[in-house]
Amino acid sequence: MEIIHSPQEMTAWANRTRAAGQRIALVPTMGAFHEVHLRLMRTAAGHADRVVVSLFVNPIQFGPQEDFDRYPRDLARDAALAANVKVDILFAPSPQQMYPQGSGTTTKVVVSGLTDTLCGRSRPGHFDGVTTVVAKLFNIVKPNLAIFGRKDFQQLAVIGKMVRDLNWDIEIVGHPIVREADGLAMSSRNAYLTDTERQSGLALSKGMQQARQRVRAGVTSAGQLIEETEKILLGHPGVAIDYVNIVHRLTLLDQTEINRDSVLLVAARVGTTRLIDNTVLFDEQ
Ligand code: PAJ
Repeated sequence: MEIIHSPQEMTAWANRTRAAGQRIALVPTMGAFHEVHLRLMRTAAGHADRVVVSLFVNPIQFGPQEDFDRYPRDLARDAALAANVKVDILFAPSPQQMYPQGSGTTTKVVVSGLTDTLCGRSRPGHFDGVTTVVAKLFNIVKPNLAIFGRKDFQQLAVIGKMVRDLNWDIEIVGHPIVREADGLAMSSRNAYLTDTERQSGLALSKGMQQARQRVRAGVTSAGQLIEETEKILLGHPGVAIDYVNIVHRLTLLDQTEINRDSVLLVAARVGTTRLIDNTVLFDEQ
């Protein structure tokens, strides 16, 4: 595995690789690799000849009160982990290399429609930061396909719309949610939780599970399912609900009656840590 810091060198590698007729898969990440990132990398290897993993803690997707400064950074550790999987290039640019004129004045890619609800409501500007950096990564790495996790369901939907709206010839692959044995969706941010907070954090996956059971039992009212999910969340100490919504998986518009396209999404704060989770209500994820 090679580590590349410079966007120019990364593009030169991509041009050579494409000229040789090889397919490139990109796994965008912010580092602090855990089991999920390694699984995304393995899946990428199954889809392409070459795998590029980008590692960049993107300043413009963090709000002023968010955890940009305390986000875990350890390139040596992450490089050692990625080297054990079939990764060809770890692309790890600096903020100066990605935003040479400073991040405050960069041109932005803004996806309309899907970004002002759910997480977009409590994290204004967040998705503009995500789509801008992912657009830059697509142009630098020139992937044939890119892999994103379904845990960040809205992020995946927003990136899919960006690719369609901008006619990018890139396949977007969604990876199923990876969970701890007790159900908690894996996240780099789980490391911030104390033992008691972690127990409370299980409320999210318990809520998802119960909602699916209630759907199997015949409940179709979104309002009722939301209310029951909120009850589970509030039954756990220290959990503050940000939102519980049931939406159509493509439009992200609220539904009153559920159907095959329904997704239940939850965001909640446990202590100072913000957790998210989601589930389709009918099919296995
Ligand atoms: P990051 O939080 O590092 O996540 C990298 C990828 O891992 C994302 O596609 C995310 O959806 C996926 N992921 C994280 N936890 C997951 C889980 N439990 N199950 C399945 N997938 C999971 O998401 C980002 O970085 C950034 O916003 C990025 C897209 C890199 C843009 O900066």
